[in-house]
Amino acid sequence: MDALKNELLTLVNDAPNLAALDEVRVAALGKKGRITAMMKDLGGLSPDERRERGAALNALKDEISFALDARKAELGRAQLAARLEAERIDVTLPVRPEVEGRIHPISQTIDEIVAIFAEMGFTVADGPDIEDDFHNFTALNFPPGHPARDMHDTFYLPDAKDKDGADKKMLLRTHTSPVQVRTMLKEKPPIRVIIPGRTFRSDYDMTHTPMFHQVEGLVIDETTNMGHLKGCLVDFCRAFFDVDDLPLRFRPSFFPFTEPSAEVDIGCSRKGGELKLGNFGDWLEILGCGMVHPNVLEACGVDSTRYQGFAFGMGIERIAMLKYGIPDLRTFFEADLRWLKHYGFVPLDVPSLAQGLTR
Ligand code: DAH
Repeated sequence: MDALKNELLTLVNDAPNLAALDEVRVAALGKKGRITAMMKDLGGLSPDERRERGAALNALKDEISFALDARKAELGRAQLAARLEAERIDVTLPVRPEVEGRIHPISQTIDEIVAIFAEMGFTVADGPDIEDDFHNFTALNFPPGHPARDMHDTFYLPDAKDKDGADKKMLLRTHTSPVQVRTMLKEKPPIRVIIPGRTFRSDYDMTHTPMFHQVEGLVIDETTNMGHLKGCLVDFCRAFFDVDDLPLRFRPSFFPFTEPSAEVDIGCSRKGGELKLGNFGDWLEILGCGMVHPNVLEACGVDSTRYQGFAFGMGIERIAMLKYGIPDLRTFFEADLRWLKHYGFVPLDVPSLAQGLTR
């Protein structure tokens, strides 16, 4: 029995891996194992012999089991250590420039917009894609029957309950403007935020997709005026499109949430069917803006006799298409890898004003 014990212990301790160790276990303690067979033979012995040999066999079995467990734990630790070593990643290494992955033009454009406005002291705010009627329309001074509230334009969701148990109309936000409301309800002026995000409208053709992106801007302070609005947007457009003398034209317009309101055009040329941005005498509309309506300020708990400010909103796909010459809006959302490879950006092209935006 001593010889068997030494033989088995050697096999256990020399087992090179978990599979080999299990073979040793089966050969010793399995149904047809050597110790199991010796246990079975006990029946043929006299009671005295059986007691003595049985106790010795049990001790042997315990000792081998113990050795098996110890070796198993040891091999497990070694296996884990080998795996950790083999799969080690230095997360501080820089991105490899040759990687296949590309940054989507929408993400890149948002990063560029944020970089420009961050330089002017704006911070980024956000709000939910699923909104209620109050934030999307009512607080923004949309009258009850306004066409934008129509089922044909807006994706409505089943009603929810407000905190008093009354029905609350829910919808997918049709613009990023409700985040103006959320920001004013939450923060005290002075306020200077931009809000990039997803927006939804029930529309689908060459120039409309049911989901698209906007960026909203909001500035509220005591003396903020239309001149600040113009300066801010002129600086933004010139930096974003990288045209130093890019002219902007402010045309009177109407939005329920601003008064006065304007639409902004940038200078361009369409000669020979090719679009060029700059001082060429032709115009292209790119955004809406205005001074925040006093009704909106009051609905958001801001004293309209003390504070005033401006807001603007623009379509991100639209300005990305203009800047990067992307002809078809729908291709943004087709997840076509060939398209992404062509129009996407390498991850190392992080936009910043100091290093230059992407061109
Ligand atoms: N919310 C408008 C839209 O989706 C865009 C807009 C216009 C936003 C004027 C503004 C603004 O903040 O002042 O068409």
